[in-house]
Parts: sequence; structure tokens; C-alpha cells
Amino acid sequence: MMELGAYLHDKRIIVENTLKDVFASFKTTPGMLRDAMEYMLFSNGKRIRPILAIAACEANGKSSDDLLPVACTIEMIHTYSLIHDDLPSIDNDDIRRGRPTCHRVFGDAIAILAGDALLTEAFRVMADNRYTENISPKILKQIIFEIATASGADGMVGGQVMDVLYDGKEGTKNILNYIHMHKTTALIKASVRIGAIMGGSKTRELKKFTKYAECIGLAFQIMDDILDAEGDEELVGKRLKKDTGKQTYIKHYGIMASKIKLEQLIEEATKSVEFLGDNAIILSDLAKFLGNRAA
Ligand code: IPE
Ligand code: IPE
Ligand code: MG
Ligand code: MG
Ligand code: MG
Repeated sequence: MMELGAYLHDKRIIVENTLKDVFASFKTTPGMLRDAMEYMLFSNGKRIRPILAIAACEANGKSSDDLLPVACTIEMIHTYSLIHDDLPSIDNDDIRRGRPTCHRVFGDAIAILAGDALLTEAFRVMADNRYTENISPKILKQIIFEIATASGADGMVGGQVMDVLYDGKEGTKNILNYIHMHKTTALIKASVRIGAIMGGSKTRELKKFTKYAECIGLAFQIMDDILDAEGDEELVGKRLKKDTGKQTYIKHYGIMASKIKLEQLIEEATKSVEFLGDNAIILSDLAKFLGNRAA
């Protein structure tokens, strides 16, 4: 069995190459829009979402070749969400992935539009025969539905809206849970689910993959909150200690309880995929890795 470090390295290269291939399909795009998309899409992201999709597919013993472009559309949507999240009217951040944020380099208007383009192009790629002709129309429709739902008003965008509305407010644990399950978990859950669906999982197994994804998704945002409080700016590649008014796990539970919750979630995630036997190794190693990350 492959060691996780090597697996992440290999898959990251495969994801980057697929993204480059997709990027090459932009033909008449205005130069500045192209530059802004390229600047963010090919910055130092962990590519965790497409890698989770690939790993979930491969955990079913299936090749992930046909899934790759679709997995990359999630990275395009994630990248758009980061560009917009950093804007002055949302989190007002000046550093992302270790360098100036998109709007700091290209201005607010181009950053907003680069985000719009990445989101829209993600759905064009899913519908483009060049990338998805080997996926059955039924499965492809299901995948598009998963990704759209996870990204939209009842998904990531809904979570972002509550994050903004409750910034600086008292908030409750229910609000906190809504925000974390939507702004971050939704897209992570869709990544795992589309991988499992492409791998041939049916309802019962899909439920277990979903449980795994909900646990690592929430754990991922708890870790993001912990890193904001006590991470290393150099490693994280973002400005830290900025979440003082936000609904974070640390605000509602404190740092110790947040770390315990994180550990419990990783354990629960690992248990959820035990049914896969040896094929679960990468997924459970990935869960542990996400629960221990410093970046
Ligand atoms: C950051 O996501 C935003 C959150 C949802 C917490 P990542 O930590 O996956 O960011 P990159 O893609 O590696 O930069
Ligand atoms: C971001 O949450 C969730 C997104 C949909 C982008 P954060 O605002 O905590 O993410 P970072 O810390 O800026 O990466
Ligand atoms: Mg935010
Ligand atoms: Mg932010
Ligand atoms: Mg954060």
C-alpha cells in the first residue's frame, strides 16, 4: 500500500495537470481575466477536495481517470470561493496561499469577475464532451446536482452568508454548526460523494462515505479555526488571528474542547469507512492527516 505522503504528491501532480489542460481551453478570454484566474488556480493550494474525490473513487477499486476533470471542477469552485471570501466586503484578507490575494493584485472588480468565471466554467467543464464523454448521462446529472447543491444557496454560499451575518454577533451553537456544515463541509462532502458515486457505490455504502465526509468536513473547519488561533502564518499562508468576531468552534467551545472534538471526528470518520477493509487505508490516513495538519 502506498504511503500517504507519496499518494498526496502523485495526486496533486495529476490534479495540477488536469487543471492545466482545462485552463488551456480558454481561447478568447481577456488577458487580465485569464491572468487573475491563473494566479489563484495555480497558487499553492493543498488540492484536498479533488484528492478526496479521487481517493473515494479508488477506495471502490475503480480507476479515477474519468473522474479527474469533474474532481478539478470542485477545485475551480473552491478557488472562486476563496477569491470572494477574501474580498474587502467579506473577510478583507490580503494574503492567501502565501501571496497577495487576488483582489490585492488585480483589483476588486477583476477578482469578483474571476470568481464568477471560475464558478461558471466549472459547470461548462462538466457539460463539455471533451472532459466527460465517458461518464453516463445519468451519473453525470447526479454529479452536477451534487456539486451545484453543495456550492449554492443551501450549501457553501448559504454558509458564507450566515458567516457574514453573524460576524461580531453573539450567535449560538446551532448557528455555528450551520455555518461550518455549509461554508466548508458541503463542498468536502460533495467531493467524497462524487468520488464514491463514480466508483460505483450504491445507497448503503454511499451513506457511509457521506458520514466519513461530514466528519472530516467539520473537522477541517475546526482545524481552520484552531490554525487561525494558534497556527504559524508562514505555514498556513494566510493572515491569522483574524477570526475574533466570527462564529468559530473556539469561541463557542474553547480551544481544548475543540481539539477533543476534532479527534473524535477523525476517529468517527475512520470508523465510517472500515467496511472497505484494506481499501480504506488512504481515506483513513487522509482523515488523520487532515486532523493533524499545520497548513
Ligand atoms: C480554506 O481551504 C478555506 C476553508 C474552507 C477552510 P483550504 O485549507 O483547503 O485551502 P487551500 O485550497 O489549501 O488553499
Ligand atoms: C471559508 O472560511 C469558507 C469558504 C467558503 C471560502 P474562512 O473564511 O474561515 O476561510 P479562510 O480562513 O479565509 O481560508
Ligand atoms: Mg470567511
Ligand atoms: Mg476567510
Ligand atoms: Mg478561516
